[in-house]
Amino acid sequence: MIQMFSVSKTYPSQITAFSDFYLEVGAGEFVFITGPSGSGRSSLLRILFGAEKPSSGEVIVNGIRLTQPGFKKAYQVRKMMGIISPDFKLLKDCNVRENISFVLEVMGYPPKAIKEKVYQALILMGLQEREKDSILSLSAGEQQRVAIGRALVKDPALILADEPTSILDDEMTGRVMTIFSELQQKGTTIVFATQDTHLIQRYPHRTISLVAKREGGAEGNGEVRSEG
Ligand SMILES: Nc1ncnc2c1ncn2[C@@H]1O[C@H](COP(=O)(O)OP(=O)(O)O)[C@@H](O)[C@H]1O
Ligand SMILES: [Mg+2]
Repeated sequence: MIQMFSVSKTYPSQITAFSDFYLEVGAGEFVFITGPSGSGRSSLLRILFGAEKPSSGEVIVNGIRLTQPGFKKAYQVRKMMGIISPDFKLLKDCNVRENISFVLEVMGYPPKAIKEKVYQALILMGLQEREKDSILSLSAGEQQRVAIGRALVKDPALILADEPTSILDDEMTGRVMTIFSELQQKGTTIVFATQDTHLIQRYPHRTISLVAKREGGAEGNGEVRSEG
């Protein structure tokens, strides 16, 4: 599902998020990306959904080479992805239901299927009572749940989740982890960036640890397997 070969990312500010990074993720794998603040987790995910271009190296997602010269069709690759951003990227002028149904409307689903799928997503995230509420009237945790529901409603083959449970309580975090595990068992690939080492201990999966930047750029990024 994901192949990254010798990928480096240096921002115009000359900050290097990571360099010479290799990663392969098979279809149906669940992978944690962890590491301290500023170690490059979000940069890595943004490269995988084509919001950021690497400075060098090759990135292939679902057989599509995002790094081919002149590639401008990241939006097509994103169709098969459920993306959860740390800042949620919700439509502030729309209500909860509209934020979730919008994705399916863009994809051309028939109205009846949209109604059914959105209903299921609302139930899944415990938002059925809030469907007509505006995004701005929700707590941050509720907004995060909308963002997760919106990512899941399109049955993505790949979920790219950047700190998706950062402000959820233990019960809702457990619920999200159960949903993700069930999706993985059905073949969904999940890349989950988190700083939360307790979460990784509690739900052991293959874990990639990014190291904090040192002078001269990141070195020694590597893979550890969580126990259990
Ligand atoms: N848009 C950007 N412009 C310049 N530097 C950035 C940008 N985004 C991230 N960085 C820098 O790249 C490094 C990695 O950031 P990030 O990927 O957000 O790490 P993490 O998600 O692990 O906290 C940090 O030093 C950060 O300051
Ligand atoms: Mg981040």
